Amino acid sequence: MKKRIAVLTSGGDAPGMNAAIRAVVRKGIFLDCEVWGIKEGFRGTIADDMIKMELGSVGDIIQRGGTILRTARCDEFMTPEGQAKAAANLKRRGIEGVVVIGGDGSFRGAVDLTAAGVPAVGVPGTIDNDIPGSDNTIGFDTAVNTAADAIDKIRDTATSHQRTFVVELMGRHSGAIALAAGLASGAESILIPEKPMSLDEVCKRLDAGHKRGKLHSIIIVAEGVASGFEVAAEIKKRTGQENRVIVLGHLQRGGSPTASDRIMASCMASIAVDLVLDGRGGQMVVLKNGTYQAMDIAEAMKQKPHFDEERYRLARVLSI
Ligand code: F6P
Repeated sequence: MKKRIAVLTSGGDAPGMNAAIRAVVRKGIFLDCEVWGIKEGFRGTIADDMIKMELGSVGDIIQRGGTILRTARCDEFMTPEGQAKAAANLKRRGIEGVVVIGGDGSFRGAVDLTAAGVPAVGVPGTIDNDIPGSDNTIGFDTAVNTAADAIDKIRDTATSHQRTFVVELMGRHSGAIALAAGLASGAESILIPEKPMSLDEVCKRLDAGHKRGKLHSIIIVAEGVASGFEVAAEIKKRTGQENRVIVLGHLQRGGSPTASDRIMASCMASIAVDLVLDGRGGQMVVLKNGTYQAMDIAEAMKQKPHFDEERYRLARVLSI
C-alpha cells in the first residue's frame, strides 16, 4: 500500500502557493506516494473535503497566482474538538502527514495537528515576509514587485503634477513589503510598524525636498501604522500642501509569481515532502543565509520575525 500525504494552503493567499502545491504533488508522486489536496485550508480537514491529486491536476499552475486548493481562516480548527475531528478524518483516510503552506497562524495549526496525531510540516507562504526563522517567504518577492511597479506608475503622475502621494501598502504587523518596495522605488519616507517615524520628520523631509526642487514625493505607509488617508490628512494640515492617496490593498496578493518565488516555492515544498515522510511533524522549511533548512516551528515562534535594520538605514540615507 502506498504512503499517503496531503497538502493544504491556509491564511492569506500568496503568489507562488500554486508552485508549492505542484511541487508537493509531483515530488510525492515521484517518491511513490499518493497525494491528497485538502480544500480551503484547515476547514477541509474538519469537513473531510479532500481530493486525490494526480500529476495532471497540478499542470499549468506554476505561473498562476492564488491557490487552486483555495484558502480560509477556520475558527473551528482552533478548538481541541476541531483538531481531534480533523486528525480523525485524516487518519481514517490513511493520511500520514500534511504539508501546510501558509503564514504563522497556519503554522500554529500545523503544530496543533501534529499534537493531535498527524505530523504536519510548514512551508512559509505569505506576502508579509514575517515568519520568524526564515529570511524569505513565498509571495513576498512578487508582492514587492507589484507594489514597486505601481509606485513607478504613480511617480509619473506625481511628477507631472508636482504632487505628494501617500501610498498605503499591506502589512499589519510587518513593514517588510513597505520597506522593500520603498527602497526599490526611491520613496521619500517609509512608515512601518517596526520603526516609528514621526510625522514631523516626514514633513521636514517633504519640505527639504521641495526646497531643493523635487517635483514630487512618495510617502509609503504600511497599513499597520495608520491608514494612508489619516496620514495624508495630517500632512496636509501641517504643510498646507495638497496630496493624493492610493491604497494598493489586495492587489498586492495577486498576479503571476516571480521566477524567484516559483523557485523558492518548488525547493521548500520538495524539502517539506521529505520531512513529512520522515515523520518530522511540527517542523517547517526556512531559508536561512542562502540555504534551505528544517526548523522547529515552536522554537521559531519564540523569536521575532527578521527585520533588516541595514536596509532601513539605507532607505533613509538614499532618500535625503
Ligand atoms: O497576511 C497577508 C495579508 O495580506 C496582510 O498583509 C494583510 O494585513 C492581511 O493579509 C489582509 O487580510 P484579509 O485578506 O483577511 O483582509
